[in-house]
Amino acid sequence: MRTLKVDLGERSYPIFIGQGLLDKGLMAPYISGKQVLVVTNETIAPLYLDRLKSTLDKQFQVDEIILPDGEQYKNLDQINSIFDSLLSNRHNRTTTLIALGGGVIGDMTGFAAACYQRGVDFIQVPTTVLSQVDSSVGGKTGVNHPQGKNMIGAFHQPQCVVIDTDVLNTLPEKELAAGMAEVIKYGLIYDEAFLCYLEDHIDGLMGLQSDLLEQAIYRSCEIKAEVVAQDEREGGIRALLNLGHTFGHAIEADQGYGEWLHGEAVGAGTMMAADLSCRLGYISKSDVERIRAILEAADLPLYPPESMAADRFIDLMAVDKKVIDGSIRLVLLREIGKAFVTSDFSASTLMETLNAGKNLGRFA
Ligand code: NAD
Ligand code: GLY
Repeated sequence: MRTLKVDLGERSYPIFIGQGLLDKGLMAPYISGKQVLVVTNETIAPLYLDRLKSTLDKQFQVDEIILPDGEQYKNLDQINSIFDSLLSNRHNRTTTLIALGGGVIGDMTGFAAACYQRGVDFIQVPTTVLSQVDSSVGGKTGVNHPQGKNMIGAFHQPQCVVIDTDVLNTLPEKELAAGMAEVIKYGLIYDEAFLCYLEDHIDGLMGLQSDLLEQAIYRSCEIKAEVVAQDEREGGIRALLNLGHTFGHAIEADQGYGEWLHGEAVGAGTMMAADLSCRLGYISKSDVERIRAILEAADLPLYPPESMAADRFIDLMAVDKKVIDGSIRLVLLREIGKAFVTSDFSASTLMETLNAGKNLGRFA
């Protein structure tokens, strides 16, 4: 097992990464009261809920709530169901919520924990690649609003994060690819050497080779922990973690949450960010080809849905959380391994990217 620390003063916490961690009883020392509510969904419960509960139910009152599965259920109705369960089981302010699932369950559980009795503890047990490398670390929690993704939420850090890489063996292939979009993101924004590692091992990673996966998850969490420690509330550098996300969130909102996976939308969004970075003269065409190649090798979409017109993108991007005083701000690449946030691009160049369709990144 390997351990990392997210260094946030009195809100610091460990991330445990390794095989078979679900059964190791790592969570109990991070539960301060006598009550636990495990929040999971109907897909994950039959696979892992009993194993997790069996490590806790001799010491704690362990209750559970099993939510419907899907991004379309990441809403305030489900948060209310969590509150109903907490109240009907008489959970007090010392309770701990445990999120057993992917990013949807993690984001909702964290948000419910942030609100219940003005804030209780929670633990992240992420079960998808995406949630293991990104959403379980850093304390962003929340739900979607019909007018915008993740628009209702709170910063609330977990007590610990337990990453059992064995659970990825049951993950559908599409979800593995979606998670890889966020792994590739870390290489592109922060660490070219890590991108080279991913390029060298992408076949093994997609084949779930455990030593390679553990290393990729470890390095991704390490980068995320470094960024979050510098900028917990996204006043600056943390925004770089959103490479491809402004375009991607627009795709998700247009298609209806749950149609395109978040990571798939980030994949196409990353190509759009690469295309714009190249049009603006930051990265070269061969850099764009390199980005296309790694996204393609990870089975990710390389362009947005054909049905999405440029005007639709502009409408949806206008509600992005990075918009300030009405101007769209985007994460772009200055070079491979270095990202920046800017609103310094002309509307016409942005429109070229939005209109590029299948020719994204392939211009004369
Ligand atoms: P998800 O939570 O919907 O999980 C994907 C699917 O895989 C679901 O059907 C789930 O039931 C299933 N699943 C999960 N683990 C499994 C396993 N081990 N075996 C079999 N099936 C399993 O999707 P996700 O990609 O994990 O998370 C996406 C969400 O994360 C989005 O809502 C996004 O906004 C959010 N997110 C949050 C942050 C953050 O910082 N908080 C960062 C990135 C993404
Ligand atoms: N996934 C972006 C962040 O945590 O800031």
